[in-house]
Amino acid sequence: MALEIKKFNSPVLRKKTVKIESFNNKLKETVLEMKKTMIEKEGVGLAAPQVGISKKIIVFIDMEKQEVKELINPIVIQRGRKKDIKEEGCLSFPGIYLKIKRSLFIKVKGYDVNGNKVEIEAKEVLSRILQHEIDHLNGILFFDRLSFFKKIKFKIKNRGFNRYIN
Ligand code: CO
Repeated sequence: MALEIKKFNSPVLRKKTVKIESFNNKLKETVLEMKKTMIEKEGVGLAAPQVGISKKIIVFIDMEKQEVKELINPIVIQRGRKKDIKEEGCLSFPGIYLKIKRSLFIKVKGYDVNGNKVEIEAKEVLSRILQHEIDHLNGILFFDRLSFFKKIKFKIKNRGFNRYIN
């Protein structure tokens, strides 16, 4: 069964997450549940706070390799200077798509579910997904990445939304 997705007004989405210290069976179970949930909801990425778990876990789809992967305690170690603007969605903001500027290339390090060190060089779509999900681990939502004027326009267009986002 899929886990419940926390929506934009949920405080857990704004909390800073804690590092995973032990790669035990509970972690494996959580990662598996998160992957199932992401697939069921047809997302391309999911961060633990979105299912109410304030820990540094993300899962995502690597389309190039056609694999569903996890990354534990991920850190961005390199960020390309070239950026592009593309539309993004977020399972915590159903039906909302925003054009967000992100680096085309990033290098991320972290661990897999078994505690093995992993380094990923990601470009384009995967780079975007990883930046979006790692932002979640720092309490940052995609809306925060809009430029000042776009934020204001969005707020005017979506009045009911205003009190949930800063
Ligand atoms: Co999201």
